[in-house]
Amino acid sequence: MKFVLALVGLVLTCSVDISVSKDAALETVSKHGQLSVQGVDIVDENGEKVQLKGMSLFWDVWMPQYYNKEAIDGIHDLCHSNVVRAAMSVETEYDGGYIETPEDTLERLYAVVDAAIEDDIYVIIDWHDHEADQHLNYSLEFFDIVSKKYSGVPNIIYETFNEPTGQSWNNILKPYHEAVINAIRANDPDNIIVVGTPTWSQSVDQAAANPITGQKNIMYTLHFYAGTHKQWLRDTATNALNNGIPIFVTEYGTVNADATDPVDEAESRLWWDWLDEHNLSYANWAISDKLEGASALVANTTAAETCQEEFLTESGRLVVAQNKA
Ligand SMILES: *[C@@H]1O[C@H](CO)[C@@H](O)[C@H](O)[C@H]1NC(C)=O
Ligand SMILES: *[C@@H]1O[C@H](CO)[C@@H](O)[C@H](O)[C@H]1NC(C)=O
Ligand SMILES: *[C@@H]1O[C@H](CO)[C@@H](O)[C@H](O)[C@H]1NC(C)=O
Repeated sequence: MKFVLALVGLVLTCSVDISVSKDAALETVSKHGQLSVQGVDIVDENGEKVQLKGMSLFWDVWMPQYYNKEAIDGIHDLCHSNVVRAAMSVETEYDGGYIETPEDTLERLYAVVDAAIEDDIYVIIDWHDHEADQHLNYSLEFFDIVSKKYSGVPNIIYETFNEPTGQSWNNILKPYHEAVINAIRANDPDNIIVVGTPTWSQSVDQAAANPITGQKNIMYTLHFYAGTHKQWLRDTATNALNNGIPIFVTEYGTVNADATDPVDEAESRLWWDWLDEHNLSYANWAISDKLEGASALVANTTAAETCQEEFLTESGRLVVAQNKA
């Protein structure tokens, strides 16, 4: 009798566990292997649903000190991440980026990607731009180089356009993404490609109305900042999911959209509950020690100190607890 009761208990426990969320540090590439997109879900090489949770780096030209193995070790082990996002600057007003100094960009990118491979976690190669449609030739060159270099490596995820602003999905963004997808697919037939959506990657509804067809393993970017974006954006995204659009939150903040204080813990929890309920993957903005609310690290944190508890900010502590949950 006791045995039967225990079994019933076990079944009940299992049936209330409706999401795949768990300590992301343990959900490594060697455990899950090659990812693909099935319906709206990311599945691993055994067809099981998998969720990536982790951290985005800051623009590489402004925080190059975290583009190395020491920082990636901390992000995996101590920030409990199975994904890290390399935010590769394309052009900035004064400090350059890929267009001015492609070799510097690639060197920093390779340091992060190689560290992520060594640390057994997934890595998003993010074209961190707001006007990528204005210089498509650079996108094509960049994604050709990196997809050739890392072709067949299961750790890799491509993000073709961080945050478009007012560009039209139908006339500008969709054709831009299709061109970049073709460049990547010529070298790398399988790894997931995440494409940016209008309005700083919020208007997933526009993509849902006219999705990219004839391609596999394509996902759509949703970004949110909990202090600014609330239930209305979750509703938009839920509708997009219901319309069959796979969503990846490659960047989110616990604070306001301009990265400033305060941390909105209550709204962040609503977002995390929603993300976990839908088994969505997410990366927090950002591994940065800039004096602003979104930063996960306190001022002057070194690479070797990345994600050590005493160097986490208020936002960083909440995010790490969530990555671990
Ligand atoms: C992209 O096009 C611009 C304008 O024609 C040109 O100056 C630049 O050299 C091109 N860059 C690449 C990487 O093709
Ligand atoms: C999330 O994944 C779990 C485990 O595979 C599954 O039971 C649940 O139905 C999924 N939730 C959604 C909304 O797909
Ligand atoms: C960070 O380092 C700078 C330069 O050494 C120093 O001026 C500043 O006070 C430090 N900030 C903190 C919070 O330790």
